[in-house]
Amino acid sequence: MIIGATPPSGTGIVTSMMDADGTTAYRTTQGRSTGTPGMRITTNTPPDPARDHPADVDLRHHGDREVAPGLVDLAVNVRGSAPPPWLTERIAESLTRLAAYPDAAEARAAVAARHRRDPADVLLTAGAAEAFVLLARTLKPRHAVVVHPQFTEPEAALRAAGHTVRRVLLRAEEGFGLDPARIPEEADLVMIGNPTNPTSVLHPAETIAALARPGRVLVVDEAFADTIPGEPESLAERADVDGLVVVRSLTKTWALAGLRIGYLLAAPDLVRRCAEGQPLWSVSTPALVAAEACSEPGAVSHADAAAVTLADDRAYLVARLRAIPGVRLPVEPRSSFVLAHVDDGLAVRELLRERGFAVRRADTFPGLGPDWLRIAVRDRATTEAFAAALEGVLSP
Ligand SMILES: Cc1ncc(COP(=O)(O)O)c(C=O)c1O
Repeated sequence: MIIGATPPSGTGIVTSMMDADGTTAYRTTQGRSTGTPGMRITTNTPPDPARDHPADVDLRHHGDREVAPGLVDLAVNVRGSAPPPWLTERIAESLTRLAAYPDAAEARAAVAARHRRDPADVLLTAGAAEAFVLLARTLKPRHAVVVHPQFTEPEAALRAAGHTVRRVLLRAEEGFGLDPARIPEEADLVMIGNPTNPTSVLHPAETIAALARPGRVLVVDEAFADTIPGEPESLAERADVDGLVVVRSLTKTWALAGLRIGYLLAAPDLVRRCAEGQPLWSVSTPALVAAEACSEPGAVSHADAAAVTLADDRAYLVARLRAIPGVRLPVEPRSSFVLAHVDDGLAVRELLRERGFAVRRADTFPGLGPDWLRIAVRDRATTEAFAAALEGVLSP
């Protein structure tokens, strides 16, 4: 609903917008107050929802803020503490070529081959995070929808680019499953994660693909797709779905968060438009070499084997958590992290820190709250020590 009024001073138009379901979306013009309470007066300053309506939660809080020296890190979803030696060697070899400007051609071809796409469908980015920023700056959505709970950078990037965002909140009592009917028909941009961080839900690929519409861009964040053996619900190869953009990250499975490497897969025209907005050479030579190396068949098999081990480790963590009175898991987790519900979650998190374990608070995810915690899947010994600490906290 748009409400417009001419302010008493006659200097402009007051506008505000309320979301149809009353939950989320706002857009106002920015201006000085003229003494009419609650009104903002238009000046020549362009509207800026991020500035006018700061998010209700800290969308820029991420797991890395939870870790501290001396704490076992169950907050960050990066696997392992370093890339495998063969990958480190490939990256190290590239350091002899740092004098030259980066050339993405080979990495682009390798990523394209890995997903059976055309190189024109691929844009290498400085992590998935840069892909969200490029999309937010390139697209001009009138009805942007972000499906939450999910990783918060897509919404943060949209807001920073000046877009109004409407949230669709999936519900715990429905296992955070996706009901396509909840996505407003008029949405011309839909952003969803699969598997979803932090719920660890894996949506069926067909349910997501069915959200595509003429005139709609459908962005699927598949940063964790390779944590699932065989990637059964990935849409990365689906060049046939109109408006589909798949965003991938190489920083999780390959422990390359500090290198910054990811990519998006989309129709060539959108790839070209995003590339035009990308700072020149933003993906460094070592990062491009990593993308090439991680896309080779041997690396993909390696990731798949790691996903099988991860499933075992996750089953162990889930069994241990389910055995602890007071811990509830809303869904069967499918990725490298588990979302758990405990009473007094923020206090539990603090007590866990005192016992040496950092878990990810979840109250900064729209749709969750202080009683949710996200716990990374680690090896059994770590899980065992963590479960003992949690038991101690919950039943002292
Ligand atoms: C779901 C999800 N997507 C994307 C990202 C960003 O990944 P990258 O390190 O590639 O920017 C993260 C990082 O935590 C994430 O959790």
